[in-house]
Amino acid sequence: MAQTWTPDSWRAKPIRQVPTYPDADKVKQVEKTLSTYPPLVFAGEARRLKAELANVAMGKGFLLQGGDCAESFAEFNPNNIRDTFRVLLQMAVVLTFGASCPIVKVGRMAGQFAKPRSSDMETKDGISLPSYRGDAVNGMEFTEEARIPDPERLIQMYNQAASTLNLIRALAQGGYANLNKVHRWNLGFVNGTEEGNRYQDLSNRISDALAFMDACGINGDTTASLRETEFYTSHEALLLNYEQAMTRVDSTQDNEEWYDTSAHLVWIGERTRLLDEAHIEYMRGIANPIGCKVGPTMTPDELITLIDTLNPNNEAGKLTLITRMGADNIEKGLQPLLERVKAEGRHIVWSCDPMHGNTVTAEGGYKTRHFDAVLGEVRGFFAAHKAAGTHAGGVHFEMTGQDVTECVGGTYEVKEGELGDRYHTHCDPRLNANQALEMAFLLADALKAERDI
Ligand code: TRP
Ligand code: MN
Repeated sequence: MAQTWTPDSWRAKPIRQVPTYPDADKVKQVEKTLSTYPPLVFAGEARRLKAELANVAMGKGFLLQGGDCAESFAEFNPNNIRDTFRVLLQMAVVLTFGASCPIVKVGRMAGQFAKPRSSDMETKDGISLPSYRGDAVNGMEFTEEARIPDPERLIQMYNQAASTLNLIRALAQGGYANLNKVHRWNLGFVNGTEEGNRYQDLSNRISDALAFMDACGINGDTTASLRETEFYTSHEALLLNYEQAMTRVDSTQDNEEWYDTSAHLVWIGERTRLLDEAHIEYMRGIANPIGCKVGPTMTPDELITLIDTLNPNNEAGKLTLITRMGADNIEKGLQPLLERVKAEGRHIVWSCDPMHGNTVTAEGGYKTRHFDAVLGEVRGFFAAHKAAGTHAGGVHFEMTGQDVTECVGGTYEVKEGELGDRYHTHCDPRLNANQALEMAFLLADALKAERDI
């Protein structure tokens, strides 16, 4: 197939999920402005992530990806960023120690501002307005004014992503992520809960290990890897004009390689991954590691074609397939795909999104997810991999560091009647800090079992 790819070759293809802007010239202007802005990430970092993911594809690591369903302009503050980062790192510590394998840490952060919608319009009390498509496009408020797509929001997205990334880099490299500190971090409301105690116990064991290493002369002062961590960013590449404006040639390489410098990893959603359409066209040409969502309707034949389009050289670490089947479909739905991909020798990082196939509406109209359904899909994911003899390579969570009440269940139980207490999400329900940490312990057990076979 491969016709010449350029950063704008997607524009000749049919496209879905694009906002209708009232002023096309203003959009052009914004695209031009963005293309003069500095890259948010450096090509070398994206290559390093690809190398870490190649390790995962070979069965020697695990990908932990998580963050908001949709970041928002309103909730932009340093505490939110720090808290989500902190819970992700705590999960990573639990997984690293529990499963004794390297954890690749990727935030669904610093760019996750656009949402695909199943309907262009939303109707409430007889009034129809354009659907909310994320803060990158329009406002969530149900008013005519807020819902008009405004291209200036793309600039605000860039600016917020830049500051978020700046803080994340500082936290990851500036001492905050020091292992000596991380395992002592406390999340107030975890105290006194079962996860709180398990976390305390694990933390004590890590203390012992660190004290032993220190006695041997290895500590944060002597060894950077104890003091720092690599933390990468990712989002769904939905607004291709924004991604195109951020697409730059890597000037440090001899061969011409284009990188999407808006994030280290970008993925294509289930709604836009059509073979002859714009999103696939854009994604096939960039050199970043990329992801693609895979839902329950995918057939093995279709999947091989998709893989060969997105990763024609079968480069390990290039392609992460993020499955979202639903707890009831996962074991049956996933195994044939795993077996076929294995038989054809394709290198894939298999990651489990246990969120999007398990969304239900609770009484009171709240969109929610049950902790047990999420866990059920994760367990089904591990079972399918065990049956197929492939590596369960990672997980993809919608989660936050805040104590929200959006998903129900967990040891420190959120009940259906409590959903209204702290329901803050701009789109889908997220695991709260407690639920996310509990998930990490259960995952560590599953990973350990996989490794002990
Ligand atoms: N550098 C190692 C890693 O990222 C160890 C490490 C340091 C770490 N700080 C961390 C691991 C915080 C998890 C969380 O894996
Ligand atoms: Mn979502």
